[in-house]
Amino acid sequence: MNALARNRILIMHGVNLDQLGRRDPEHYGAMTSLQLEQAIDAFAKELELNARFFQTNHEGEFIEHLHRVVEVADGLVVNAGAWSHYSRAIGDAMAFVGVPAVEVHLSDVMAREQWRHVSVLGEHCIATVAGKGVDGYREALQSLKSQLQS
Ligand code: DQA
Repeated sequence: MNALARNRILIMHGVNLDQLGRRDPEHYGAMTSLQLEQAIDAFAKELELNARFFQTNHEGEFIEHLHRVVEVADGLVVNAGAWSHYSRAIGDAMAFVGVPAVEVHLSDVMAREQWRHVSVLGEHCIATVAGKGVDGYREALQSLKSQLQS
């Protein structure tokens, strides 16, 4: 498969990320989840990547989607919300999905409560971007593009 064909990126949003816009704007900004997806889609187009989106508030659905990821994506951007901090089940699924992943957090998790300082998903990712708001997704897409071209 040539490098240009490997451009399918799935952005996976987990629990409570559908509530953006009305949820802690001081941490997550004012954008709704739809506006966030539109901004990420624009970043992806600039980078000649093809973005698709998935969001769920159900951990099992998130995991089942991960199981099928290899069929639909060449790279993953994952913001699993609070699951990032404790879901070994999501981490186990990410360990074998077989596509490179970048973990993103809108907020600066390391500057917040202690329990947010730990990520059980980061070890399964090629990079983690936190605290950069929507621009963090652009950085994640750039990392994935470099990885897919190498
Ligand atoms: C978050 C940070 C998590 O700690 C939190 O539970 C979220 C959002 C972020 O994008 O900053 O739901 O992942």
